[in-house]
Amino acid sequence: MQIQEIISKKRHGGVLSDEEIAFFIKEYVKGNIKDYQASSLCMAICCMGMNSHETSALTSFMMHSGDVVDLSKIQGIKVDKHSTGGVGDKTSLVLGPLVASTGVKLAKMSGRGLGFTGGTLDKMESIPGMRINLSEEEFFDQVSKIGMAIIGQTGNLVPADKKLYALRDVTGTVDSIPLIASSIMSKKLASGSDAILLDVKFGSGAFMKTLEEAKELAQAMVNIGKSLSRDTRAILTDMSQPLGFAVGNILEVKEAINTLKGHGPSDFVELCLEAGSIMLMQAKLVSSKEEGRAILEEKLASGKAYLKFLEFIKAQGGDISYIEEPSKFAVANHIYEVKAENEGYVHEIKAIDIGLSAMHLGAGRAKKEDSIDYTAGIILNKKVGNYVKKGEVLATIHTNKEHFEEEIKAVHDAFIILKEKPIIYPIIRDIVF
Ligand code: URA
Repeated sequence: MQIQEIISKKRHGGVLSDEEIAFFIKEYVKGNIKDYQASSLCMAICCMGMNSHETSALTSFMMHSGDVVDLSKIQGIKVDKHSTGGVGDKTSLVLGPLVASTGVKLAKMSGRGLGFTGGTLDKMESIPGMRINLSEEEFFDQVSKIGMAIIGQTGNLVPADKKLYALRDVTGTVDSIPLIASSIMSKKLASGSDAILLDVKFGSGAFMKTLEEAKELAQAMVNIGKSLSRDTRAILTDMSQPLGFAVGNILEVKEAINTLKGHGPSDFVELCLEAGSIMLMQAKLVSSKEEGRAILEEKLASGKAYLKFLEFIKAQGGDISYIEEPSKFAVANHIYEVKAENEGYVHEIKAIDIGLSAMHLGAGRAKKEDSIDYTAGIILNKKVGNYVKKGEVLATIHTNKEHFEEEIKAVHDAFIILKEKPIIYPIIRDIVF
């Protein structure tokens, strides 16, 4: 088999056989197919697409290019959740303990933030002592004992994706539904959970800018999961404004604590309850979302979800005195209020601009190797639908940088304020299963 024939076949719109896809992945990981050939095939896939059988085959061969975690030693149905990334997305920190407090097991591998999106691992590491690198044995033990663990990727998981994603990033070939879907799903499937809930975000602060694009990606991923016998469902959530009020690591951890204590922002609480009730259905604990929601509301109100959070933080080495007394967390040197210059209703808070400003203030990384300032970030004082008067605070900047004039302007301009009332959409716009 010759890689140039496979490239040419795809370039002319042909359907690749399982053998051709397997050949590509195996030989690329071994180094026998060169980066320029792989990028040429990725470009052909970007232009001509892949049908759902090809996409599933690509995912399966990528998944088996390295270790596949076997969670069968842990009793019960293991559920996982994946977000395609957004601004202020601290969902795993609340959803994990919320779901685990019902007895459902969550064995989750997470990632770090890059660019305008934050990452769960960075948020966790902003809690002093917190470990994200557990051994496989520690990971299994913790999920068995307390029902949840969130760690960084272990071992040699999906080496094909590590190579391909880095290549796609520099060859303009990220933007393709079959390539994105196979990249995300190969990692999720290799992590070993029985059921996967995908939170596919859309809007300015998301990878997919429109609801239609997000739906297409969600459907492709759900199809892959089903074809490989995993209960896979997806929610489509609005990222046209940041999630909740807090953006930035310590600020988001504090918001997660407040949420687990029953004082969370309404959009964030709604997302956690809805996503959680679907996960309880996937774990076969309940047979309807309504039943799941009632259980989760009780876990929040009774403080059991909060207690599970404390247990989780302690199990991974975190100092729970910070959770019990959040004022112990370090605070940035500069706290600056951004004020409204006009009166009216907030129509939009451009999540991408808030995310990029938070990154420039120190909360995120422009490049993988950049370090981050856990105290930095932005607190929104207003959300879409709120009425603001001239001079009222729109958002509060937290930073240790001495110069942040550009970020003040960017945060100010991220708020679109108009005279008429906006239409308010629910945070979850659709469910794909
Ligand atoms: N995230 C991934 O893991 N892979 C992609 O291709 C895009 C986003």
